Amino acid sequence: MSEGILLKPVARGTLLTASERVARLEEALPQIRAALEGERDAVAIQATLACLLWETMTQTSWCGFYRRVADRTLAVGPYQGTMGCLRIDFDRGVCGACARTREVQLVPDVSKFPDHIACDDRTRSELVVPVIARGELRAVLDLDSAHLDAFDRAEADLLQRLVADIFAEASF
Ligand code: SME
Repeated sequence: MSEGILLKPVARGTLLTASERVARLEEALPQIRAALEGERDAVAIQATLACLLWETMTQTSWCGFYRRVADRTLAVGPYQGTMGCLRIDFDRGVCGACARTREVQLVPDVSKFPDHIACDDRTRSELVVPVIARGELRAVLDLDSAHLDAFDRAEADLLQRLVADIFAEASF
């Protein structure tokens, strides 16, 4: 599968309705799982997921990974979008909150999240999903949008299940 993902073309930056977004993600998931079948290298998986989720989730302005590189430090990994912060401490931002709590962070309005790190000041909403493999927090999947309220709980649940499966046997 070298052509990427087969989905209806939608312009970058478009915010579809929540039900259209979930339907599009559900259509993409089997293709994403097929593309990653048998791959164990964490960076290869992260790079491919960043690319395919960027194609699928047209509302994103940043889509990618922060990897755990020390006990309480994340460093930027493969991503699509404008330049991101290089390092994030577990004590800071939405990504830090996700790493610390190991729970999905769904932030419909980042201006109401006191600790949000503004790498790109166009960011209005954010979704961060923990990547846990073999009991350890290995990374977070960070999705940002220039739209308010651009992510839904159903999208978060689908992504959480995807990363749990895809990274289960990965070598970090
Ligand atoms: N907004 C994130 C930082 C990461 S970048 O925006 C890519 C946060 O508050 O954790």
